[in-house]
Amino acid sequence: MVRIPIARIGVGAIELIVISKLAGAKDAPKDTRLGFAFSMHDNDSNDRPAHQEDADVAVPTGKALRCDFVGGAVQHRLRFGGGRGQDLPKAAGLKPGINPHIIDATAGLGRDAFLLASLGATVTMIERSVDMHALLRDGMARALDAGGVTAEIIKRMTLIHGDAIALLPELSPEIVLVDPMHPPRNKSALVKAEMRQIRAIVGIDDDQTRLMQTALAHASRRVVLKWPAKAAPMADIPPASHQIIGKSVRYDVFMQS
Ligand SMILES: C[S@@+](CC[C@H](N)C(=O)[O-])C[C@H]1O[C@@H](n2cnc3c(N)ncnc32)[C@H](O)[C@@H]1O
Repeated sequence: MVRIPIARIGVGAIELIVISKLAGAKDAPKDTRLGFAFSMHDNDSNDRPAHQEDADVAVPTGKALRCDFVGGAVQHRLRFGGGRGQDLPKAAGLKPGINPHIIDATAGLGRDAFLLASLGATVTMIERSVDMHALLRDGMARALDAGGVTAEIIKRMTLIHGDAIALLPELSPEIVLVDPMHPPRNKSALVKAEMRQIRAIVGIDDDQTRLMQTALAHASRRVVLKWPAKAAPMADIPPASHQIIGKSVRYDVFMQS
């Protein structure tokens, strides 16, 4: 594994790192195959400066997909979200006085990681899509610039570019969160626009079973699978130890010890 520091952002100790094209090949063909006019696609986006104001991705809906920790839904949840009583922190095992290290194997826009970090966890995020990684990296940089509580939360988050299936065994994780892209539901109009945009970039994570099997083989404490509330359990993995079921999403929790 070759670690190439791509940026040290001015505030604090965070280091955004790229883990060399270990197994990140999946994103390139997908993005190319889709043939969309991505604003950041001419060159490998890892060559771009870490902090760009225009870090958004043009997607077919016409709206730019953006990673924003400073305003909008993320800040609303930070203020009014309900703390450690929320389903995700409960599933991840956050308890009073316990601030675990969690690996988010499917970082996406970093929302779940931000929630966990806002409650005291330290989170290592892995994202294999070049475009999603770039969006997240720039969102983190802007949040650090903003300062205050949000920047303090971001300092507990580390971003790695690569495929979690290859990286997890090297990271000796205790707790792993897995939130793969699911196949579109029949009522696709009901799927949030943002999720459609992410899907346009990364496609469907058709190796999600292998990712879960890898997480289960290497996590020492627990694995949390974020899954559609009404979907059948994932095939070819052991049954969950318990479930936390919300309105549209459920968390299948696999205790390891
Ligand atoms: C549904 S999104 C995750 C959303 C995320 N939980 C959030 O809060 O923003 C799934 C993301 O996981 C990434 N992904 C899927 N499989 C991966 C893997 N094996 N390694 C790294 N990233 C992966 C996809 O590229 C996509 O960006």
